[in-house]
Amino acid sequence: MYNLVVFASGNGSTLQAIIDAIANKKLEAQILLVISDNPNAYALERAKASNIPTYIIQNRKDFTKRDIELFDVLSSYSVDLIVLAGYLKMIGPKLIEKYTLINTHPSLLPKYGGKGMHGMHVHEAVIAAKEPYSGATVHFVNQEYDAGDIISQTKVKVLNNDTAETLSAKVQAAEKIQLIDVLNKFIQHKL
Ligand code: GAR
Repeated sequence: MYNLVVFASGNGSTLQAIIDAIANKKLEAQILLVISDNPNAYALERAKASNIPTYIIQNRKDFTKRDIELFDVLSSYSVDLIVLAGYLKMIGPKLIEKYTLINTHPSLLPKYGGKGMHGMHVHEAVIAAKEPYSGATVHFVNQEYDAGDIISQTKVKVLNNDTAETLSAKVQAAEKIQLIDVLNKFIQHKL
């Protein structure tokens, strides 16, 4: 079985898409653990509802301590891939050295990436700039925000009457399909 660990900071709809894909046999994998830096993340409730163990990071503010803490927590699991699914903290060097990590980001990177560019902020910036297209990117995680090698991108047309909210809904729908597709490629050793 292919073993995933999912990191999430917020609502967890991306986590839910992975849970649902596994339940619907669209993904031959299991989620060993859901990790969050936010004790109030709804993602944790989603994990619990599916009987997936959860872990809340203690060292939320200290980058080095957080890296060591996560390294220790993960050392008791056999992890094939770590998926950042709406996780907003920087990943440290110990994790990056040991694991393969991927992130899904709601823009066509390298546009609208980097520190502070997450979730609705991205869509608001895309609308303000009157971009004709936005989309979603899955990329490998390195030690810079949203800057690792790109694995896959999906374009979404921005319509004249789109708001940040309507664009977010379209991008999130496309990004979930893309992420499950990418995960399947990892599982089939095509990546
Ligand atoms: C997703 O759109 C994800 O791409 C984005 O946050 C959303 C999480 O939604 N991640 C980033 O912006 C990371 N830079 P969710 O909590 O409902 O899964």
